[in-house]
Amino acid sequence: MSIQFENVAILDFGSQYTQLIARRVREAGVYCEIHPFDVSVETLRKLQPKGIILSGGPSSVYEEGAPHCSPEVLRLGVPVLGICYGLQLISYFLGGKVEPSDRREYGPARVRISQASTLLADMPTEFPVWMSHGDLVAVEPTGFQVIAASDTALGAVEDNERGIYGLQFHPEVSHTPDGRRILENFVRRICSCHGDWTPASFIKATVERIQEQVGDGHVVCGLSGGVDSAVAAALVAKAIGDRQICLFVDNGVLRKNEFENVLQAFEDYGKLNVKGIAAGERFLSALKDEADPERKRKIIGREFIHVFQEEAAKLGQIDFLVQGTLYPDVIESQSVKGPSAVIKSHHNVGGLPETLNLKLVEPLRELFKDEVRAVGRELGLPDSLINRQPFPGPGLAIRILGPITADNVRLLQESDNVVQEEIHKAGLYDRLWQAFAVLLPVRTVGVMGDYRTYDQVIAIRAVESLDGMTADWARLPYDVLESISRRIVNEVKGVNRVVYDISSKPPSTIEWE
Ligand code: XMP
Repeated sequence: MSIQFENVAILDFGSQYTQLIARRVREAGVYCEIHPFDVSVETLRKLQPKGIILSGGPSSVYEEGAPHCSPEVLRLGVPVLGICYGLQLISYFLGGKVEPSDRREYGPARVRISQASTLLADMPTEFPVWMSHGDLVAVEPTGFQVIAASDTALGAVEDNERGIYGLQFHPEVSHTPDGRRILENFVRRICSCHGDWTPASFIKATVERIQEQVGDGHVVCGLSGGVDSAVAAALVAKAIGDRQICLFVDNGVLRKNEFENVLQAFEDYGKLNVKGIAAGERFLSALKDEADPERKRKIIGREFIHVFQEEAAKLGQIDFLVQGTLYPDVIESQSVKGPSAVIKSHHNVGGLPETLNLKLVEPLRELFKDEVRAVGRELGLPDSLINRQPFPGPGLAIRILGPITADNVRLLQESDNVVQEEIHKAGLYDRLWQAFAVLLPVRTVGVMGDYRTYDQVIAIRAVESLDGMTADWARLPYDVLESISRRIVNEVKGVNRVVYDISSKPPSTIEWE
C-alpha cells in the first residue's frame, strides 16, 4: 500500500524468525514491512523508513553467495539494527572481525549489560537470551561500543554517532523474554516512532483506500465462516456499504448447524449484506462415494467455483472480488523457495479470481492473523466469529475417512458437535488450535445393554499450535475425554467406540486426510 504510517523496513536474510521480528515491531505500534535482502536502495529511500532492521540468517558472511545488502543501507541516514547475521554483515562492511565460533552456539545464554545505552534501556543488568549462530563478531568495528556481553562473546553493540546497532542474540523469539522491550527501544526511542499503527488507524486508512480503489463499483465477497473473510467483508462494508454482496455457501460438509449459526451471527452484526446459498445436496452428490482425499478436495473446489460463478452472475454488474489474503501469504509468494513436496493440495479454494475475471480487493494484505482479530474486534464483529478455530475449506469431507455418504456426514456432525460442546463447557476452546472429531472407516464390536453392536469408530483430535505448521496433541483432562466419549457413544447412533489421537505434527498432520 502507499504507506501512510511511520514505517520500519526489515531486510530478510533468510532467518526462520523474520516474521517474528515484524510481529514484535507491530506490537510496539509501528508498521513495518519485510523486504528481500537485496531490495534496491532506491526502493528503500522511497519508503522513507524511520529505521531499518537486518534480520538473522543461516549463512556465513564470507561464504560464496552469502546474501549481502548494499552497504549503502548503512548510510541512508536512518538508524539500522542488525540481528545476528545482520550484525555480522554490519561488522563485515565496517571492518570488524567475524569468526566462526568454536562451537555452534544454539540455545539459551545469558548476557550482562556492560554500559548504559538506549537500545538496552530499562533492561535488567543481566538477562536470558536465545542464541542461534555459527559465526560471531569477534572484534567490533571501530566506533562501536560493546553494551552487553555473554560469557563467550559480545552480546550487543552500538555506534550512536552513525546510528548503527547490533545484537548477537535473537530479541524476537519468546526464549528472549524481555526481547520485545529491546525492539521497542529501537523503534520508539532510537527511531523516534510514535506508535501510530493501531487497529483504529488501520481501519481508517483502509476504508479510504477501498473507497478510492472501488469508486462506485460493485463488489462480491465469499464468506467462509472464518475470521479472515469476515473481517475483510466488514472493512469493505464500512467503506462502500450495500455495494458489497457476500455469499456464504453451504457445501453440505459444514459442522452441525454451522450454516444457520454463521448466517445468524452476520445478521446480528447487521452491517453486511449476506446471501446464504444452500447447495449441500449438490456438493454431496458430486462427492458421492469418493474416498480419495485429494479428489475430495478437488471436487469441493470445483463445485465451489461453479456455485459461486452462478450466484455471482445473478447479482448484475460486479467489478471486484474481496479476498482475505494475509501478510504471511504475501511474503511467502514473494520469497524464493526451493521445490517442496506437495503433502496436501491445501488451502483456500483456488481459481476464483482468474475464472471470474474480477479485480481483487485485498484489505488484509498487510496484516498478521493476530492483527486481523484485533481489527475484527474494533469493527464490532462477535467473538464467536473472531475467536473461531480454523476450519478447512473441504470441511468434514476430509474428516470422513473413506467414502462420503449423507449418513456419514450426519454421524460426524453429531459426534463433532459433542466435541465442540464439551470443549466449550470445559473452557478449553480458546486454548486449542483445533479440536474435532474424525470418522474412521472401520467397524468394531461393542456391547450395549444385552446386545452386541458392530458400529463405527470416532477419533478425537485436539492440538495446540501457534500457526498450524507444527502442532502438539493437547493433553486434554481425562474427565473431558470421558464426557466426550460417553456422550458420543450414548447419543450418536452408529458409533460404539471413541479413541484419542496422540500424534504430533510432524510426523503426523493435523487433519487425517
Ligand atoms: P494439516 O492437516 O496439513 O493442516 O496439518 C494444517 C492446517 O490446515 C488446515 N487444512 C486445510 N485448510 N483446505 C483448507 O482450507 C484444506 O484442504 C486443508 N487441509 C488442512 C487444517 O485444518 C489445519 O488448520
